[in-house]
Amino acid sequence: MTEPLVLGVESSCDETGIGLVRGTTLLANAVASSVDLHARFGGVVPEVASRAHLEAMVPTVQRACSDAGVTLQDVDAVAVTAGPGLAGALLVGVAAAKTLALGLGVPLYGVNHLGAHVAVDVLDHGPLPQPMMALLVSGGHTNLLHVPDITSDIRSLGETIDDAAGEAFDKVARVLGLPYPGGPHIDRVASGGDPTAIRFPRGLTARKDMERHRYDFSFSGLKSSVVRWVQARERAGEPVPVADVAASFQEAVVDVLTAKAVLACTEHGVMDLQLGGGVAANGRLRELLEERCAKAGIRLRVPRRDLCTDNGAMVAALGALLIAAGHEPSPLDIPADSSQPVGQIRPLVRVAS
Ligand code: KG4
Ligand code: ZN
Repeated sequence: MTEPLVLGVESSCDETGIGLVRGTTLLANAVASSVDLHARFGGVVPEVASRAHLEAMVPTVQRACSDAGVTLQDVDAVAVTAGPGLAGALLVGVAAAKTLALGLGVPLYGVNHLGAHVAVDVLDHGPLPQPMMALLVSGGHTNLLHVPDITSDIRSLGETIDDAAGEAFDKVARVLGLPYPGGPHIDRVASGGDPTAIRFPRGLTARKDMERHRYDFSFSGLKSSVVRWVQARERAGEPVPVADVAASFQEAVVDVLTAKAVLACTEHGVMDLQLGGGVAANGRLRELLEERCAKAGIRLRVPRRDLCTDNGAMVAALGALLIAAGHEPSPLDIPADSSQPVGQIRPLVRVAS
């Protein structure tokens, strides 16, 4: 018997993603991004994102089916990101997934967005090592996860206590006069700069912070420090060395991300680490992480770029793993939960009173 064909729906932020996966084989990964609509605001505007999901949902489902050469009648199960994410944006995807599941008469699997970011690598590099660690860095989240079992046990070790890593890239890019989203521009400009030119602060690495926030991150102090440095230059009427500022800022971010990820692995005796999220595209982050993992004997996995950023295939991948592990489907009244905890791989079901 062939494995079930799973359709995955992702709408937690600014990407409308529909993926089609059979078992662990990727058949289609259609994504419509509303990033251009948010550019002039310098960040994702939730209401704009929700409306864009509404407009993109049906055409993206159609594109995924045509890319995979299947029809909706071939779909055996529907998986959807139920949280965490932007409330209105999530609602669009959850409503679409419920409608598809009900209309097609197939089971629905609500899943956790962060778990899906981890699960996606089965499509690129095969079965996930269990246990494993995952460092997820994007515009919306920065998480260090300990994953003994992707279908039943995901633990949050740490997360950002203020800005997400990608958000810090975007804000600093703005200060340096670079376009939104700023991450790729900082990455490019930094390659011509000196990462040791300015010693920017490494958030939550002081001894006291390492006691309370061992695996947590903080980037807002770093961002303010860059702003102050740039403004002091401008006040003095001196030119801002954009490449050096970009390289020094980037070094401060990736230094902390890589140091804490490697520490988490060695302290937990987990020697497999996966990197994910849009910031995983950063050249210096990959370089330093590879270097530090190699030194510590940690095997590093990085899914290919279009699977690292938000997409529907990752949701379908986690759905397929849940089905293969024999999990029950979700009821049709699962909520969209904007603050769904990491450890909750499946959404909590409202209990009728
Ligand atoms: O996962 P993603 O596509 O979507 C959301 O977070 O919604 O991540 C986008 C984030 C943005 O903040 C962007 O600036 C950042 O990833 N990013 C990068 C790079 N490419 C994208 N940050 C640093 N270096 C890059 N090369
Ligand atoms: Zn994400």
